[in-house]
Amino acid sequence: MSVGKGRGKSILFGEHFVVYGIPSLAAGIDAVTIAHVSRGKSLGWTLDDQRPAVPGYKEKKMDEQKESINNVLNFLDIDTSKNGIHIEYGGDLICASGFGASAASCVSLARALSEEFNLGLSDEKVNEAAYEGEKGYHGTPSGLDNTASTYGGLVWYIRDLEGGPPKFKPIKLKEPVNLVIASTGITASTTEVVGDVRAKKDANPEWFEKISKEYENLVHEALTSLENQDLVKVGQLMNRNHELLQDITVSCKELDDLVKIARDNGALGAKMTGTGRGGNMIAITVDESARDTVAKALEEGGAAFVIKTTFGA
Ligand code: MEV
Repeated sequence: MSVGKGRGKSILFGEHFVVYGIPSLAAGIDAVTIAHVSRGKSLGWTLDDQRPAVPGYKEKKMDEQKESINNVLNFLDIDTSKNGIHIEYGGDLICASGFGASAASCVSLARALSEEFNLGLSDEKVNEAAYEGEKGYHGTPSGLDNTASTYGGLVWYIRDLEGGPPKFKPIKLKEPVNLVIASTGITASTTEVVGDVRAKKDANPEWFEKISKEYENLVHEALTSLENQDLVKVGQLMNRNHELLQDITVSCKELDDLVKIARDNGALGAKMTGTGRGGNMIAITVDESARDTVAKALEEGGAAFVIKTTFGA
C-alpha cells in the first residue's frame, strides 16, 4: 500500500480574478487529505472516501470526483483495466467548500500513485497531475488550488492565459500571521459560480475591467504590506477585496454575516475566500488572544465550524 498527502488551502487575495490571469495570494493550511493506494482485487478502481465532510458535500461532488480520479489516472498513464487499484481517502482536512479539498485529494492521489507505481514524480509533475484532476471538478481551474496544495506555505500565483505553465513563487514572512477560517457549511459549485462570473464579465466587460484593475492594484499592495508585516493595512485590503467580491456577486448573506461578526469582534480584516456563495470566510488578527476572541464570536454567531491557524512562516 502507498501513501500520499495534499494540503488544504485558503485564498487570501484573488479568488475569481485569478481565473483571468491576475495575481493571487494563497496559503497552504496544516490540515491534509491522505490517500492510500493499493492493488485492487478486481480490475478498474474502487474508492473508500473516509474524509470528514459537511453534510451533502460528498454526494454533491460525486460525479465530479469520478471524473477527477479518471483524469489523474489518464495523465499518469495508469491503465486500471490492466492493474485494478483501491483508493482510500482520509486525513483531517474537512471537505467543505473553500478549503481546496478537491485539489488536496488530487495531490494526495498523484503522490500515492507515484509511490505505488514507482513513477518518481517531482512536485512539479504532481502539481500537473493534480491540475488535470481539478479539471474534473471545474472545467477551467486557474491552478491556484492545486499549486497551494502541492507546495504549501504562502504562494504568489499567476495563471498563464495561453495555457503555458503558471508563474508562482513562495513567499516567506518575517512572522506568521494569525488566521481564523469559518465555514458557512454551504457547499458551492465552483463550475457554476465561475461560469456565472464569466457570463457577467462577457455581458459587461467595462464593468468587470474596472473592478479587476482595482483588484490588481490591491493585490500588489497586499504583498508589500504582508512583507512589511503591516497587518493593519493587510486587513483593510482584505475588507476592500471582500467588497469587490460582493460587486461581482459571489458573496452571500451567510458570508457577509460572518465577515461582519469577525470585524465587530476585533479582526484586522475579513473576507470571503474561495468560490463563494457558501464555503468559507477568513479573518486575520493581531495576535493569538484576538484570534481566540474572533473564533469564539464566529462559533457563537452561527459558523458551521471554525479553524484557528497561521500562515506565512
Ligand atoms: C476556487 O477555490 C477559486 C476560484 O478562483 C476558481 C479557480 O481559481 O479556479 C473561484
